[in-house]
Amino acid sequence: MRDRVPVLVAAGGETWEAPALRALAEASVVVLKRCVDLTDLLASASAGTVGVVLVSGELAGLDADAVMQLLRVDVRCVAVGGDAEALGRLGVVEVHPVDDPAGLPDAVRRAVRQDLVLDPEPGPESRLEVRADRGRTVVVHGPAGAPGRTLLATGLAAEHARRGAPTVLVDADPHGGAVAQHLVVLDEVSGLLAAARLVNAGGLDARSFARCRREVTPGLEVLTGLPRPDRWVEARPGVLDAVLERASEVGDVVVDTGFSLEDDADLGRGLVRNQLTLDAVAAADHVVAVGSAEPVGLARLARTLVDLRDLAPVPVTVVVNRMRDSLGWSRRDILGMVEGYVRPAGVVFVPDDRAAADRALVAGRSVVEAGASPLASAVAELHEAVLGGAGQPVKRSSAGRGRWRCRRP
Ligand SMILES: Nc1ncnc2c1ncn2[C@@H]1O[C@H](COP(=O)(O)OP(=O)(O)O)[C@@H](O)[C@H]1O
Ligand SMILES: [Mg+2]
Repeated sequence: MRDRVPVLVAAGGETWEAPALRALAEASVVVLKRCVDLTDLLASASAGTVGVVLVSGELAGLDADAVMQLLRVDVRCVAVGGDAEALGRLGVVEVHPVDDPAGLPDAVRRAVRQDLVLDPEPGPESRLEVRADRGRTVVVHGPAGAPGRTLLATGLAAEHARRGAPTVLVDADPHGGAVAQHLVVLDEVSGLLAAARLVNAGGLDARSFARCRREVTPGLEVLTGLPRPDRWVEARPGVLDAVLERASEVGDVVVDTGFSLEDDADLGRGLVRNQLTLDAVAAADHVVAVGSAEPVGLARLARTLVDLRDLAPVPVTVVVNRMRDSLGWSRRDILGMVEGYVRPAGVVFVPDDRAAADRALVAGRSVVEAGASPLASAVAELHEAVLGGAGQPVKRSSAGRGRWRCRRP
């Protein structure tokens, strides 16, 4: 006989309830209680005796907070009927059609398994250990238009590890993570969501956080990001703070972020999609602001620099990416523009080097591990400017300038 699975049901008086209860009973899914409404459901779930609740997708009051309250006590939510996309955004793990009661027991069992998948197995993957000194946190941010945040974050982290410094690369892009893809971390489990779940359950400690990370190269461990953009609701306020706190215990931290710093409360639910990016910037010791060198990219970069000036009183190193002579402006022109908005800790020009960028993508490696190139050299310079010094964030590189680096006059 199959394992007995206890669930709570809150059908909100809908007609699918009776056939659903019969189907569940036949498949050894035990309904511990039929709850009258959401309040009853939340109170009953907090007793900790079920792993899954079955709710009407139209249940009054069902919102992201309610779903998260359930996740916090380790309860996954399966909805019957309702708007699948909207419910998915709330963190509901599965939306089941109202006319298929026979399929419900399997949906419940899938939800139970999904729960387990999110809790990563301990593995040999993580080798970094807690150190006496806290690491520095460098946050790579930049506006819309794919200016190269992920390429530079992965490059910066890889360069740091290559030089012998324990490094954690955190993918905190709320619009869907790309670090795992760039570095080919083949893992179904999202490190960030696993960590989020542990935070929600009150238990992200050094050991459980180590289980969320994956080693990429010696000294470089990655916390992979959101598997799908719509899972952002699961990374609630406070999750990234806890992650960065733990990460800085084992090394220096590089964070890849999203493209927006807008405080966009989501449809009045009090959730902010860009929370991950905002939290990352708020926790930064040093921000790397990346923009691309063409006109639209520079205009967006200017906006980002203004936002950063208002948000983060920390050193900002500006990267002008994909710089090329054919654009018709000099580095001096661009420096003038940048300094009209902020007093940067430094400005690094990174060349447009499609050959090296593509080689890295195809190989599934960071640009610094994909062979010598102008791009790899520029990333090494960026590293020197941002993480080159020991101890505190380096305000300004004192090393010799390479071809692509410009100083403020
Ligand atoms: N300096 C560069 N030269 C050539 N291609 C680049 C450079 N920087 C980024 N790219 C390419 O641009 C695309 C977007 O970069 P990515 O890092 O994913 O952007 P973002 O994370 O900002 O969305 C990728 O295909 C990447 O390889
Ligand atoms: Mg990216």
